[in-house]
Amino acid sequence: MTEFLHSALDLDRSRTSSLGRVTATRAIRVLGLGGSLRDGSQSERALRIALAGAEEAGASTTAITGEALRLPFYDAGDSDRTERASRLVEAVRQADGILVVSPGYHGALSGLVKNALDYVEDLRHDARPYLHGRAVGLISVAHGWQAAVTTLNQLRTIAHALRGWPTPLGGAVNTAEVKFDEAGGASEQKVENTLRLIGRQVAEFGHAQLAAGFDRPAEG
Ligand SMILES: Cc1cc2nc3c(=O)[nH]c(=O)nc-3n(C[C@H](O)[C@H](O)[C@H](O)COP(=O)(O)O)c2cc1C
Repeated sequence: MTEFLHSALDLDRSRTSSLGRVTATRAIRVLGLGGSLRDGSQSERALRIALAGAEEAGASTTAITGEALRLPFYDAGDSDRTERASRLVEAVRQADGILVVSPGYHGALSGLVKNALDYVEDLRHDARPYLHGRAVGLISVAHGWQAAVTTLNQLRTIAHALRGWPTPLGGAVNTAEVKFDEAGGASEQKVENTLRLIGRQVAEFGHAQLAAGFDRPAEG
């Protein structure tokens, strides 16, 4: 830990956060996954806002959205992976925190997003298996409250199953009441603030884990 903190190449990213003053030695990497294949995807726009919140809290961010999520159905019996699938698995492996956003389809998360999450199974034998030690910010976007809420609950259940740490705040967005624009804003400032805060919480947890040395491999 000490050796790591004092490495000459490391950037000191000391920041004051709601968790107190934490010192990380490199930028926290936050990966955003989700959206739909549709042009102008509202859920992808919601994800971009949350990622901006993570950046405000000092994270470097990557997004895997749209066509990059068009992957073969996850096949646990076949270890061959397409280039896109390998990129997704590697991005999750490297991430200190994850943001997942799904549209609500028939009261549930979309198959596109669920299939992408199934690929996390490829991390089962990692030193940090699945989403171990990582905060997971979860956001659902549907055209009504019912699907927005049920989808958020499903995303939370999946994050727990993957050994991740869902952030205290989750986002259930009803697109019948709020719209996201191309420029990265929302018609409701309150919704935008909530999504940014979820991104911040993911980054802050990552900073705290890193400062405490908890980004190490899991034991047992
Ligand atoms: C196949 C499909 C099923 C949907 N099912 C629901 C639903 O059950 N409840 C709901 O409120 N909205 C539903 N919607 C609306 C979407 O959740 C909503 O339009 C969302 O913003 C779509 O995300 P996107 O803009 O990222 O594509 C559905 C949309 C599609 C395409």
